[in-house]
Amino acid sequence: MSYTERLPRKRTYLMCPPEHFAVEYAINPWMDPAAPVDVGLALRQWHLLHATLTDLGHAVHLLRPRPGLPDMVYAANGAFSVDGTVYGARFKHPQRAAEAAAHRFFYAGQPWTFAHPQHVNEGEGDFAYLPCAYGGLILAGHGFRTEPAAHAEAQEVLGRPVLSLRLVDPVFYHLDTALAALDDRSIAYYPGAFSASSQRILGQLFPDAVIADRADAEAFGLNLVSDGRHVLLNAEAVGMADKVRAVGYVPVPIHLSELKRGGGSVKCAVAELRS
Ligand code: ARG
Repeated sequence: MSYTERLPRKRTYLMCPPEHFAVEYAINPWMDPAAPVDVGLALRQWHLLHATLTDLGHAVHLLRPRPGLPDMVYAANGAFSVDGTVYGARFKHPQRAAEAAAHRFFYAGQPWTFAHPQHVNEGEGDFAYLPCAYGGLILAGHGFRTEPAAHAEAQEVLGRPVLSLRLVDPVFYHLDTALAALDDRSIAYYPGAFSASSQRILGQLFPDAVIADRADAEAFGLNLVSDGRHVLLNAEAVGMADKVRAVGYVPVPIHLSELKRGGGSVKCAVAELRS
C-alpha cells in the first residue's frame, strides 16, 4: 500500500446536546414522526461522540439546547466558518428557523466575525472547506435546502472560491450526506447524489477521491468528521470504514442510531469553527 502518513490537526468544534431531541415533523425522507425516539439513548450516544472528540485532543464548544427546537443537535447547520469569519445560516423550513439566532448568539461572545446571510443556507450541512485544495476551496450543495444565491453570497463573505454542486436525490438532501472532507485536500463522495455535470466536475478536480457507493451513503458513511487522520463515522457504515482505512485513515465507528431517525449522523452533530 502506498500512502503518506495521515497526520491529524487539532480542531475546534461546536456541538449541542440532544436534550430536546424529537422527530415531530418530517422535513427529510429519513424522518418519521410516528416512530418513537429514545432521548436517553440519543444523549448517551451524543456524549460518547463528544468524549471521542475531546479524547482525540480537540476543543469542543457547547451550544445551549432550547426547548421547541428538536433539531438543534444537528449543530453543523447553524453556520459555516472559514478563516475566522462565520457565515450565518438561514433555514429553509420554519420549524428550524429559530436555530439561526441561537448560533448567532453563541458567536457574539466569540472571536469570530459574524456575517448575516440574505439567502437561505444551512451552514455546514451544505458547505465544506478544503484549505489546501486549489489554494482554499469551498464546496457547496444546492437542490434541496441551500439556495445557489447563498453560494455566491458565501464566496463574497468568505473570500474563497465556491464550487456549486447540484444534489439530485432527496435521500441525500444536504451536501454532508453525500460528500466529506477527509483532510485539507481530499474528499470522499457518492457520485449518484449529484447531477451528471457535478459528477464530472468532481471527477475533474478530485481524481483521487474515495468513491462511496449507495450503501455507504445510506449508512451515513459520508456524514463523517475527520481530523486528517481519525475518521469518525456512523458505526453502521462498515464498508465506508474499510474504504478510508485502505487509504491510510483510521476509522472510528460511532453509534448514533437515534440521530439517524432525524436524518443525520456524526457530521450533522459537529460544526467546525475555523480560525
Ligand atoms: N432533521 C434535520 C433536518 O432535516 C436533520 C439535519 C441533518 N444535518 C445535516 N447537517 N445533514 O434539517
